[in-house]
Amino acid sequence: MSNKSKLEFIGLDTQYKSAKGAIITRTHLDGAASPLACATSIEAISRLLPHYSNTHSYVHNSAKVSTKALNWAHSQILRFVGASNEFYTSIFTGAGTTAAINRLARGLKASRPQKPVILVSAMEHHANDLPHRQFGNQVKFIPLQGEGSQQGSVDMLEYEKLLKDHKTQINYVAVSSVSNVTGIKNPVREMATLAHEYGAKIIVDGAQSVAHERTILDDSNIDFFIFSGHKLYTPMSPGVLIADKKAMEELGGQDLGGGSVSSVSYFDYELLPSYPAREQSGTPNIVGAIALASVSKVLLETGMDELRKSETEIMAHLFSRLNDNENIRVYGDHLLARTGALAFNHSLIDHGLLAAILNDYYGIAVRNECFCAHPYVSSLLKEELWELDLDGVDEYEQEDFINRKRGMVRVSISAYNTKLDIDRLMSAIEDVEGNINELKTHYRVQPDGSYTHNNYDINWETVVLSH
Ligand SMILES: Cc1ncc(COP(=O)(O)O)c(C=O)c1O
Repeated sequence: MSNKSKLEFIGLDTQYKSAKGAIITRTHLDGAASPLACATSIEAISRLLPHYSNTHSYVHNSAKVSTKALNWAHSQILRFVGASNEFYTSIFTGAGTTAAINRLARGLKASRPQKPVILVSAMEHHANDLPHRQFGNQVKFIPLQGEGSQQGSVDMLEYEKLLKDHKTQINYVAVSSVSNVTGIKNPVREMATLAHEYGAKIIVDGAQSVAHERTILDDSNIDFFIFSGHKLYTPMSPGVLIADKKAMEELGGQDLGGGSVSSVSYFDYELLPSYPAREQSGTPNIVGAIALASVSKVLLETGMDELRKSETEIMAHLFSRLNDNENIRVYGDHLLARTGALAFNHSLIDHGLLAAILNDYYGIAVRNECFCAHPYVSSLLKEELWELDLDGVDEYEQEDFINRKRGMVRVSISAYNTKLDIDRLMSAIEDVEGNINELKTHYRVQPDGSYTHNNYDINWETVVLSH
């Protein structure tokens, strides 16, 4: 939409008052949850809104603008993920990745009832796990390589064994391209090839890879690739389902309504023959989809490979700095590079306390707990929790004590982060280590393991509401 192809972000200069009363510029290290918005998204929305109209019509000028811009958005998203229009279609879904996966899980269950088994990797976000449990008959988890806190990516030998054991029974395989906890990548292309050998489809949850590396779906190897627009610097945008048209055809029409049908009588209806219209019923999030496509255009113009190169260096820097601290344990196989995110724990400071102090005293935004991936986080933590020393902990306090250890701190980076952000984080951690006893006195711990400052909080109303 815009000729200005510059990657700029909103909120890099956001400041908050710290618990010590100092004004600090926030350091944003929480992009795996949602990165900051790319300025292009707002620019695209401002340009479109004066012409805004519903789509599915070419009758007046504004309808033409919206309809054509949305058509462009569908093709631009395909370009962004390197998907040929010959094989693939892009469908905008409701609420992010979660909506698209639920839709597929429901559709694949109904269209392939003779195949009751679904293989799901053991490192999935709940969004790529629970829908398969809900709609699938038998979910089998694919083990990861390695052990305990040092687990790696999907174990291909175990994966192939599961495929062999269940042969024609497998409906589909569900796996994330990159873990939202450890940032570890899975070999999704190889997994897709194997899945197809056994007649299974594959769903790749691309939520954590799409902003960090060039996605290339050109050879129709992956049946379904899904991501959320908000993970691609466009907070107000829809989820995206990139579907192989043949695979989608097998599902028949999902989520029916206006816009996807060519004729309807009281007795029958006929779906439109072409994609994405056939699968895009109702009024989509037109403005958000166009904003997202505009951001994806700028990202392509900036160069996803360049972006990946710089992020890889920042992640390596983060990993080595954390690893140098003997009190810190980074989760996941240390031999594997991380994409975008990694999780760790400090042996002397609970994850909830460390994350709270980083925010309250240093303006550093990280995330903690289990990141909607409870089974994976539990398996990474299992040995540690088992080995917890409860000597001296009152019997009635033991459960709360264990709760405080159930989780991790996650640091995640985005296109706007630099090594300086990592250095800020590391010097804050060193500072916290030196002052932990005093800092602890300012916090009370909640039964769920989270920590609350005694007299520091932010007033969201003064920040968000207009007065
Ligand atoms: C790997 C992965 N899958 C799915 C989701 C869910 O995305 P959404 O909340 O946008 O539906 C997330 C969100 O963090 C994620 O990281």
